[in-house]
Amino acid sequence: MTVAIDGPASSGKSTVAKRIADQLNLIYVDSGAMYRTITYVVIKERIDLTDQKAIVNALNSVSIEFERTVEGQSVFCNKIDVTDKIRQNDVTNAVSIVAAHPLVREVLVERQRKIALKQNVIMDGRDIGTVVLPDASVKIFLVASVDERAERRHKENKQKGIESDLTKLKQEITDRDYKDSTRKVSPLKKADDAIEIDTTALSIDEVVKKIKEIIFEKYPNL
Ligand code: DC
Repeated sequence: MTVAIDGPASSGKSTVAKRIADQLNLIYVDSGAMYRTITYVVIKERIDLTDQKAIVNALNSVSIEFERTVEGQSVFCNKIDVTDKIRQNDVTNAVSIVAAHPLVREVLVERQRKIALKQNVIMDGRDIGTVVLPDASVKIFLVASVDERAERRHKENKQKGIESDLTKLKQEITDRDYKDSTRKVSPLKKADDAIEIDTTALSIDEVVKKIKEIIFEKYPNL
């Protein structure tokens, strides 16, 4: 079974995907964390963000692994825990540029497919239902207003002790939406057979419930 959850930044994908993974015993794959991890390496190694070849070279010697923890999930880059580092502002603001390189996407999409071949997964991102897992058993597309998404990220940042400015966040989310949906390769786009859920006025529990209902409809014996 494969569940694909796509949608723009801060639409609630990872929070609901993690919960559903726990409740239905699926492996949660955060594809955005993979793009963030290579971006973190690019920044750390001072590689030019526009140098696709150099980035792919670096990516080829980078392992990205996920580990379930009590707090959620940790991300390891070459066995080093980068969970918090990949959420910092410098990574967040550069990741769209790195994720727009077709060859970078090729490598990561291949890795994402490999993970899904081995186990039942719930994977979230921008192109999971359209490109990575076009045959996913369940496809969900989450949306929410820019204001609501900025508020959510602001709250999240404050909880994590990350510096946060709401007006700036709104602008950054709008910019990232634009970059993610207008890039040439695998833009953020709802798959024709995906079910769209607007989470603006919904709680996390309500979104989780809705998605589980969709999954149970397809797999009544789960
Ligand atoms: O979901 P997120 O904010 O952690 O994603 C980080 C960036 O990675 C986002 O700007 C778009 C990109 N991304 C992508 O292009 N394709 C994916 N499947 C997942 C994320």
